[in-house]
Amino acid sequence: MDFKGKDIISITDFSKSDINVIIKYAQKMVPYAKGKEYTRILDGKVLSSLFFEPSTRTRLSFESAMNRLCGRVIGFADPTATSQKKGETLADTIRMADAYSDIIVLRHHLEGAARLAAEFAEAPVINAGDGTGRHPTQCLLDLFTIQTEKKHIEGQKVVLLGDLKYGRTVHSLAYALSLYGAELAFVSPKSLQMPKEVVNECKEQGVNPFSTSKLEKVIHDADVLYVTRIQRERFPDAEEYSRVVGSYQINKAMLSNVKEDLIIMHPLPRVTEISPEIDATPHALYFKQAFNGVPVRMALLSLVTGVML
Ligand code: CP
Repeated sequence: MDFKGKDIISITDFSKSDINVIIKYAQKMVPYAKGKEYTRILDGKVLSSLFFEPSTRTRLSFESAMNRLCGRVIGFADPTATSQKKGETLADTIRMADAYSDIIVLRHHLEGAARLAAEFAEAPVINAGDGTGRHPTQCLLDLFTIQTEKKHIEGQKVVLLGDLKYGRTVHSLAYALSLYGAELAFVSPKSLQMPKEVVNECKEQGVNPFSTSKLEKVIHDADVLYVTRIQRERFPDAEEYSRVVGSYQINKAMLSNVKEDLIIMHPLPRVTEISPEIDATPHALYFKQAFNGVPVRMALLSLVTGVML
């Protein structure tokens, strides 16, 4: 694929070989992401960072990535301080960002918002999370993390745990892992099971995920445990949320018979689903995973502008 000018909307738009190109290029970006090497490749380029929903990692790592490449960032993290407050449409906001910048990064509460934005912008649009839809750059950094830690993704036994219904990160990741022939287990309360269309996407790739509500059935054999938060803000019904909140919490006792090299990942933020006592164990990968957002997003910014290291 020629990435120059390409929108990054859903991981399903990319082949395995496209993803491998991004992962390989991101590995080259690591010393630059850590500030150990220096480059000015995006000098003169401007990124619009448009966040209609709260974010810590995605917004700051995109901004760090652009700054590490010597580009500039404009944008907002509080949409109530923009002309949306006066009734401006998303389409018109995107038209303005398109006029003022070379790349648009958009997080929005509505599924499909990024694809819509791409129709109104000449500049490449990168989906930084659209409602309960997709989060392709999170998916890429998750794959990068597994590749870096395990040396390959193929055949890894990956357990996705938690809110699989509303969790956009696991929707993207389940599909992408199935491209690599990973073995998938989905663990969630019954009411938060993985949507059928995502399960079908996995099956189309020849992967038949095992679904259960009992983590103890699969944790002992897992290479990767990917934990997600039960997202209060996604539930249309507060009662539905109160029935599942606190359904699971990973603590040291639960890790007594896991593989020595099990890695625990989480897109973050976490609330109570991983006990802080796990942080100091060799299994905890989630903070390193969050750092990996910088080299991966640097690689994407470079690829979509067509200005390479
Ligand atoms: N993982 C992730 O999307 O985190 P933020 O919501 O903090 O950006």
